[in-house]
Amino acid sequence: MLLQTQPKETALGLGLDGLLFGCDYNPEQWSPETWREDVALMRQAGVNLVAINVFGWSHVEPRPGEFDFSGLDEVVDLLHANGIGVNLGTGTSSPPPWLTTLHPEVLPVTADGTTRWPGGRQAYCPSSPVFRERALALVRATAERYGAHPAVRLWHVSNELGCHNALCYCDVSAASFRRWLENRYGTIEALNEAWGTAFWSQRYSAWAEILPPRATLSFINPTQTIDFHRFSSDEILDHYRAEAATIRETSAIPVTTNFMVTAHIKNQDYWTWAADMDVIANDHYLDHRLERPHVELAFAADATRGLAGGAPWLLMEHSTSAVNWQPRNIAKAPGEMLRNTMSHVARGADGTCFFQWRASLKGTEKFHSALLPHAGTRSKVWKEVVELGALAGRLGELRGSTIDATVALVFSWESWWAGDLEAHPTTDFSYIAQVHAAYEALWDLGVTVDVVAPGAPLDGYSLVVVPSLYLVSDSDAKVVTDFVDAGGHAVVTFFSGIVDETDGVRPGGYPGAFRRMLGVTVDEFAPLAVGSSVALSDGSRGTLWSEPVELVGAEAVVSYASGPLAGRPAVTRATAGAGTAWYLSTVLEPDSLIALLTRVADEAGVLPVAAPGTGVEVVRRRDSQNEWVFLLNHTDETVHHDVSGFDLVTEQPVSGRVALAPGGTQIIRQDRKAS
Ligand code: GAL
Repeated sequence: MLLQTQPKETALGLGLDGLLFGCDYNPEQWSPETWREDVALMRQAGVNLVAINVFGWSHVEPRPGEFDFSGLDEVVDLLHANGIGVNLGTGTSSPPPWLTTLHPEVLPVTADGTTRWPGGRQAYCPSSPVFRERALALVRATAERYGAHPAVRLWHVSNELGCHNALCYCDVSAASFRRWLENRYGTIEALNEAWGTAFWSQRYSAWAEILPPRATLSFINPTQTIDFHRFSSDEILDHYRAEAATIRETSAIPVTTNFMVTAHIKNQDYWTWAADMDVIANDHYLDHRLERPHVELAFAADATRGLAGGAPWLLMEHSTSAVNWQPRNIAKAPGEMLRNTMSHVARGADGTCFFQWRASLKGTEKFHSALLPHAGTRSKVWKEVVELGALAGRLGELRGSTIDATVALVFSWESWWAGDLEAHPTTDFSYIAQVHAAYEALWDLGVTVDVVAPGAPLDGYSLVVVPSLYLVSDSDAKVVTDFVDAGGHAVVTFFSGIVDETDGVRPGGYPGAFRRMLGVTVDEFAPLAVGSSVALSDGSRGTLWSEPVELVGAEAVVSYASGPLAGRPAVTRATAGAGTAWYLSTVLEPDSLIALLTRVADEAGVLPVAAPGTGVEVVRRRDSQNEWVFLLNHTDETVHHDVSGFDLVTEQPVSGRVALAPGGTQIIRQDRKAS
């Protein structure tokens, strides 16, 4: 495994014992008597890291410039006295009402010009100088007060930056966007060229004419939209940097913020953020709008490990049971919280925290699960939390251990932005769905995957999977083609390599940047009509997309067997340099994709981790001494397997034929020297 960024904090312990285990805590919602009860229960649950002051602004600065840290002082001291570390929020995630009343100009504006009002959260424009000034004043006061407090182990800048307010279209944002564009392009001519403004009379003669991609009557310029995404991601990162720099004036404690590597939020290109974090932290919630939420969880965890450059990372938030923001909020089955948590740990998390400690009684999150539910300590959730906390303590032994993968999957936020734009061959295409489909097949195969950025070095991998990488620069595409030329194996799926970073099509046939390597060329896209599919020569069916693939050196492995493309190649294999390159021009059914990737993995010498049954997730972490095998049974069946070692969940030695209960979790420590 060779990920592209350098490990950050190899020992993510933050000076605490065991794995980091904790939660968000919102003491503002509770009385000082409850704080005391809470801290006693936190100790009982084995909590060692608590995020506070995440939404504290209106409490610590109740009126402009008037700070009152008395409540926060008491909570910080109370946690410290009980040996619990503090993950201290800067408190800037939501402006207090006095700020938006005094300065309504900080409010964000949507693409159609509507102001988004206070009453929810994150009601600020990321480019607002007024917001920035007020936020930094708060950060400075907070850092001066707590920057050397022994309880504080980590700074938590804002919260989920850009979750709701990533894209602001107000005049202040427009001016900032123009400055960003000037910096990127230098001259208006270069911008006109990049944006293709020869089309539809869009040519600009001065920077002042340029606007964010506000609501239009027709389709909007796609490059303008992609650049606005880039700008918006950079703009919020800039806010992070300003807060982090302010903290560092008075504090040497590590600084981070919680990422949202998840299926439904795509506004931040975290590949460009990672280097600024002292610790990589992610928030992840099971998404029951997806068919297999636990597989998407695994993808997000692997992507977070990619952002951490392979080093341990911190799961800053997940849930003990249901959330409150999906259409149907599904409670976790017994054992599911443990399984979910351990999937993150198996994939590199050295700490797992939850939102939130005690379930709120008021506000929109009152029906969100917590460590301490409304029902209190007699609940199933509480019992499981206490067990999990004890396990987290025992798992301290695997801190700093790593995960080996020989397969890389290229994932790109830019292709997510660009691939899903309007006026494309079919509105049924979804970049993330294609990424997930490729990842799911590898998950089913038991192949551990590193998720890497476009352009990340691929040396050391045997296989690279490139799902629908619509937008890719020449130099990033070359990393893949060089890898194959040097003997690597690649699988590229349709709608890859089509445009460069300006969203300009590569002429001469699809799939553009990868055509030579793949030994194919395609004249036009042939997406399928809604609900239709096409027969394939292996007896399966292709959906969503098809293409009249012409072989230019590749061989057909599977062909279209019905429709206008009958007889034409659908899946191809080519030798390129010393390597092998596969092309998939349609969406294969899950079983066919698994079968195909089995062959590819076999040829590439990739060894899947043998799972004792379908639906059982197996991942290994190791250090120089030990290997820890995580087995997570996502099925309703008992499965049996042969293993020997020590199960850290049951605290029992195991050997020979062992049963893994339905929904069960085992973490088997094995001595590497003995095996
Ligand atoms: C996160 C957020 C938390 C809480 C949680 C609920 O997006 O950071 O404050 O709202 O979701 O699932």
